[in-house]
Amino acid sequence: MRRLRFLLTSGPTREPLDPVRYLSNYSTGTMGRYLASAIRRRGHALTWVRCPQDVETTAQLLKRLQALIVKQDVLVMAAAVCDVRPARTASSKIKKAGLKALILKQNPDVMATLARRKRTRQTFVGFALESSRLKENALQKLDKKGMDLILVQRVTSHIKPFGDARIGGAIYASEGVGTPLFRASKARVAGQLIRRAEALAFEKLRVA
Ligand code: CTP
Repeated sequence: MRRLRFLLTSGPTREPLDPVRYLSNYSTGTMGRYLASAIRRRGHALTWVRCPQDVETTAQLLKRLQALIVKQDVLVMAAAVCDVRPARTASSKIKKAGLKALILKQNPDVMATLARRKRTRQTFVGFALESSRLKENALQKLDKKGMDLILVQRVTSHIKPFGDARIGGAIYASEGVGTPLFRASKARVAGQLIRRAEALAFEKLRVA
């Protein structure tokens, strides 16, 4: 079996407000660890960018991936990317009296930006957290971000998909055919995703 080159991102990006505070999300990087094990188990080469240890902000993540993506066969974008950042990062601690309101700026969409230069031989795997209309939203993201495969998970104030929680949702490929997931373990879903990504990548490399 041919060895593929996988580029994996995981964990939350962070957007600093000052040297003490940041904006982020509840991602723990657990899914990323299972994905990394699954990629290694299948014998593929792995380049793993862990947020926030390896890169902290969304802008840094985009820059790092732009430098790495050309040589990769598969991108697995499990990082929980902050969609916004404080308009300004203070170089010294902001006093609490200065914290009454935050001005935010939109971050670039990392995957959509990389998709603009995606090669036909490359396979992109993405993720989505949705509270409603899972299929419709997932397929929209898949299309907008040049994905070949997407894992969509449900999130509400009662259903929290973080850490070792079980997965409720579905996997969709670009033809819109879904594989439903009900209380599935992250370890199992990670294995399933990597095998499907591998099959798509081999198919692309065969016809390229
Ligand atoms: N993503 C990205 N850049 C962003 C936001 C998300 O590359 N600025 C990637 C994530 O890594 C994930 C996918 O896009 O693989 C979908 O992330 P999600 O947070 O569900 O979607 P958003 O595009 O942020 O849309 P919304 O928050 O409106 O649901």
